[in-house]
Amino acid sequence: MAPKISLTRYLVTEQRIDGAIPADLRLLLEVVARACKSISLAVNKGALGGVLGATESENIQGEVQKKLDIIANEVLIEANEWGGHLAAMASEEMEGIYLVPNRYPQGEYLLLFDPLDGSSNIDVNVSIGTIFSVLKKPEGVGVSEQDFLQPGRNQVAAGYCVFGPQTTLVLTVGDGVAMFTLDREQGSFVLTQENVKIPEDTKEFAINMSNMRHWDAPVKRYIEECLAGKDGPRSKDFNMRWVASMVADVHRILTRGGIFMYPWDKREPEKAGKLRLMYEANPMAWLVEQAGGAATNGRQRILDIQPGKLHERVSVALGSKHEVERLTNYHLEG
Ligand code: AHG
Ligand code: MN
Ligand code: MN
Repeated sequence: MAPKISLTRYLVTEQRIDGAIPADLRLLLEVVARACKSISLAVNKGALGGVLGATESENIQGEVQKKLDIIANEVLIEANEWGGHLAAMASEEMEGIYLVPNRYPQGEYLLLFDPLDGSSNIDVNVSIGTIFSVLKKPEGVGVSEQDFLQPGRNQVAAGYCVFGPQTTLVLTVGDGVAMFTLDREQGSFVLTQENVKIPEDTKEFAINMSNMRHWDAPVKRYIEECLAGKDGPRSKDFNMRWVASMVADVHRILTRGGIFMYPWDKREPEKAGKLRLMYEANPMAWLVEQAGGAATNGRQRILDIQPGKLHERVSVALGSKHEVERLTNYHLEG
């Protein structure tokens, strides 16, 4: 039997043979993985660990924070602040950026995260996750929020960890997508899939259908045609899935294809969408592109969007290439 390849070995190989990552980025990714292990343990304890339920605080997005949103945020900060690999962090759960304290050495990377994605699923024991994105700090003294406002194509690493029936870490450093499953006895992530590829065609879509009446015409048209199935213009039946945890929906798409959408809608027209560009859309868009899929806001490639602010929201459609292209064409025609 071939030896198991740990995350550490995979990263060392990327560093040594493929030259895809410098040593301090490798350290950063190992630390993020270790933090994900801690979050996984807290998630698994559930009610026994007293981690379920809401707090009395709201985040910058005006969402009530769950206990696990805050726990996961603290775990990621504590794990990453002392290693010397980071200059600063930004999180969906914090209003401003978090500077590495002066007592620790400063590194050249910026880490962004959605510490706990799928908060509405925590208490009902459905898959949730952590999403992360790594950028390089632009040259210059000090670090500011402006340094984070880089388009997603500048990412040097991105990934997520999904806490489901298995805990799986999914990663790209720009050299394809690899998946690692947590071996709980060994306490380490083991490579379980390399060169992940999303089929270009699919018969499965993911969208919150309850918002249908609020959508724009191109999204309505696309979904109506899917719903019409064999009798409609697509001449095939479609299946629908909606976990309401982006990590779980994207994980399914990386595993067997599909299209995921959270489009702009008329409920809050001043917002570009629900999902956050820097913590959710960018890392997922890069993973999907690295697996041969596509990611758009309907009119523009997600990775080319120039962010105007840290907590910017965006309309998202990603997954199987041909379906994303079709939806884009509907937007451009309209
Ligand atoms: P978060 O828990 O980090 O706020 O993100 C939740 C997001 C995303 O994971 C999911 O796709 C979407 O919100 C679900 O939204 P609806 O409840 O509107 O379906
Ligand atoms: Mn989220
Ligand atoms: Mn979140």
